[in-house]
Amino acid sequence: MGLRGVGMTRLAAASLPHVRVVGLCDGIRGRAELAARHLQLDAPAFDRTDRMLDQTRPDALLIFTPDAFHVEPAIQALKRGIHVYCEKPMATTLADCDRMIRAARASKAIFYMGFNLRHAPYFRIMGDLIGSGELGEVLTLEMSEHYPGGRTYFRRWNRLKSAGGGLWITKATHDFDVMSWFAGSEPRSVFAAGGCRVFRPKKGAAARCRDCALRWECPDCSPFIELEGAEGAFREEWLRLGEQAGYLPHDACLYRGDIETIDHGMATVVFRNGAVGTYALSVVAPDTLGGRWTTITGTQGTIRADPKTGKVLFCRRGRHAPRVYDADAVSKGGHGGADPSILQDFHRVCQCGEKPIAGWEEGRRAVAVGLAATRSMETGALVRL
Ligand SMILES: NC(=O)c1ccc[n+]([C@@H]2O[C@H](COP(=O)([O-])OP(=O)(O)OC[C@H]3O[C@@H](n4cnc5c(N)ncnc54)[C@H](O)[C@@H]3O)[C@@H](O)[C@H]2O)c1
Repeated sequence: MGLRGVGMTRLAAASLPHVRVVGLCDGIRGRAELAARHLQLDAPAFDRTDRMLDQTRPDALLIFTPDAFHVEPAIQALKRGIHVYCEKPMATTLADCDRMIRAARASKAIFYMGFNLRHAPYFRIMGDLIGSGELGEVLTLEMSEHYPGGRTYFRRWNRLKSAGGGLWITKATHDFDVMSWFAGSEPRSVFAAGGCRVFRPKKGAAARCRDCALRWECPDCSPFIELEGAEGAFREEWLRLGEQAGYLPHDACLYRGDIETIDHGMATVVFRNGAVGTYALSVVAPDTLGGRWTTITGTQGTIRADPKTGKVLFCRRGRHAPRVYDADAVSKGGHGGADPSILQDFHRVCQCGEKPIAGWEEGRRAVAVGLAATRSMETGALVRL
């Protein structure tokens, strides 16, 4: 029952007919109780998934714990024959992915990977154009994410390798999954470079923004409580419970040198069919320029997608006028419409028993690319998969 868990639970309860939330769990039990009150759900709160599963006997479990802690709840559910929705990334190590795969293979339940970008109209338009064959064979994929969220990531578990695996896992697995989907092939080798150049120790910075003399000029000064009314009161209490449990204060200084991962980097992925992808990642982007940009060139044309306009352009080789698709016109809800769609799809897959659009194979593959990027960055060498 963190930020993602509360948001998705609210969405599931409100938008999926015939679905009832029967239990909420968080390592900090008070957060699960708080979420039940805040979302006005008549559901008991737990601090252990196995107890929740045994007492509430649900059809499905949705997992929104930090990345390194998806594995245990997933295995506990699969062993009990309970369908699993697992947030990205599948896990932070291949050993954990393999444990989940063994449990999924031995279970009748569905293992569904929460790669929500696959469900966003913005990406679906590109996927459909490639799938239709109009682009021809994919030659190059240029993907970039400019995210201003380092300031929220690095005050939480995402800054720790032990909880998030580093940005090539916790963030980039989204994009490595999309890249493999668009390339239509398995990744063969990865080269990556990057570092942490912005969030470094800063002279004069205090341990918390509220005590810091630099707070007026610092672009990362915590906005304290961003939301007003009931949402603000919920967020304030949620943060207080975290601090009480020993988590960093929400306005902890980001310039203390305790970030175990990068704030920017680039990776090149070569696929078995010859397609080449690059991915640029920044979590220190300006707030006004956040988003995912994509350009894909194939033997028959080019796709260019701009998150600021919501437009996807398809240009055929030669002197053809570009065809323009408006993703914004059909995007409704979180992550460009991806969140409502993925929940509906999970519900549908559980009901009809169909193979999910992304399951453990796709989940493990994205983690393998993320780990290869991490190793390449650390060693300076090309890593073969
Ligand atoms: N698909 C997306 O677009 C998207 C967006 C945001 C987050 N996520 C993913 O969702 C997950 C949660 O991220 P978040 O931003 O909500 O994090 P968060 O810090 O807001 O919440 C995590 C919650 O898990 C609890 N927790 C920590 N360790 C636990 C454990 N071992 N068992 C039970 N509870 C535990 C914490 O108390 C906290 O309430 C992550 O896997 C993240 O990568 C995905």
